[in-house]
Amino acid sequence: MNFANKTIVITGASAGIGRTLAISLAQQDANLVLAARNQEALEQTVAVCTKHPGKVIAVPTDVTQPEACQQLIKKAIAAFGQIDVLINNAGIGMLTRFDEVTDLSIFEQVMRVNYLGAVYCTYYALPYLKASRGLLVAISSICGKTAVPTRTGYVASKHAMQGFFDTLRIELRGTGVNVLVVSPGFVATDIRQRALGKDGTPLGKSPRDESQGNMSVEECVRQIIWAMERRKREHIMTLKGKVISWAKLIMPGFVDRLAAATVRTTTFTQK
Ligand SMILES: NC(=O)c1ccc[n+]([C@@H]2O[C@H](COP(=O)([O-])OP(=O)(O)OC[C@H]3O[C@@H](n4cnc5c(N)ncnc54)[C@H](OP(=O)(O)O)[C@@H]3O)[C@@H](O)[C@H]2O)c1
Repeated sequence: MNFANKTIVITGASAGIGRTLAISLAQQDANLVLAARNQEALEQTVAVCTKHPGKVIAVPTDVTQPEACQQLIKKAIAAFGQIDVLINNAGIGMLTRFDEVTDLSIFEQVMRVNYLGAVYCTYYALPYLKASRGLLVAISSICGKTAVPTRTGYVASKHAMQGFFDTLRIELRGTGVNVLVVSPGFVATDIRQRALGKDGTPLGKSPRDESQGNMSVEECVRQIIWAMERRKREHIMTLKGKVISWAKLIMPGFVDRLAAATVRTTTFTQK
């Protein structure tokens, strides 16, 4: 797939992976529709993208609101008349043990952004993706493949996302629409800094040692675009992620211990 003159809608384009994806796709002359809540940060992404030939619009959007997702797609059509790719990237994390949670709304919030936000945007974009025989992309996580302690709500939301898009892929057979689920490991963004802690407020500081074991955002985006160009069904980014799906079938207890050890050795003690 070549992205020049294609219309690509990206949620969560105000920061991290979404922002770098937008800039990389702008360099390939794509027309972009960029969504997130923070309008100022979104405009900063637009300012970088407009240095390239493709057209770019920003649509401030809270993906937890179905009407806002509908407006996002309407504005994309009003501006460009077509949608070729929808990248469901908006996401938030949570980092706390379940038995330490003091605010249960964390679970609803994470599910509404990571899962329902993707469902709503996909619902409104689908008729246009069918018309263009386009591509649906879900930025999931290794947490959509396997359990990781201190992330119950996040893991559940990414498993939901994986199940939803795997099912939709089958339903869309014969329509020309492809569905790609991308599963990154740790990527060097501020997601863990913004992650919800036990009381439902953002942690403000990553509890993880971010100096080791993170993939750069640029490498993550390079791999996402590589998978998009090939209209792959699935892209798991790390060797550990690739091996885990198989290892779980034959030694699930070992995989649990590995997940526990990974979190233990890379996480500072939370107060
Ligand atoms: N970084 C990692 O280690 C990692 C690993 C695996 C998977 N992922 C996944 O990759 C995706 C991007 O994460 P990231 O690391 O780039 O995180 P990030 O830097 O924190 O960016 C998250 C983006 O999502 C947007 N967002 C959050 N809530 C939203 C809402 N209600 N409506 C619209 N947009 C919303 C944020 O914008 P606003 O705040 O302006 O709304 C921001 O643009 C997520 O789905 C995440 O789960 C990340």
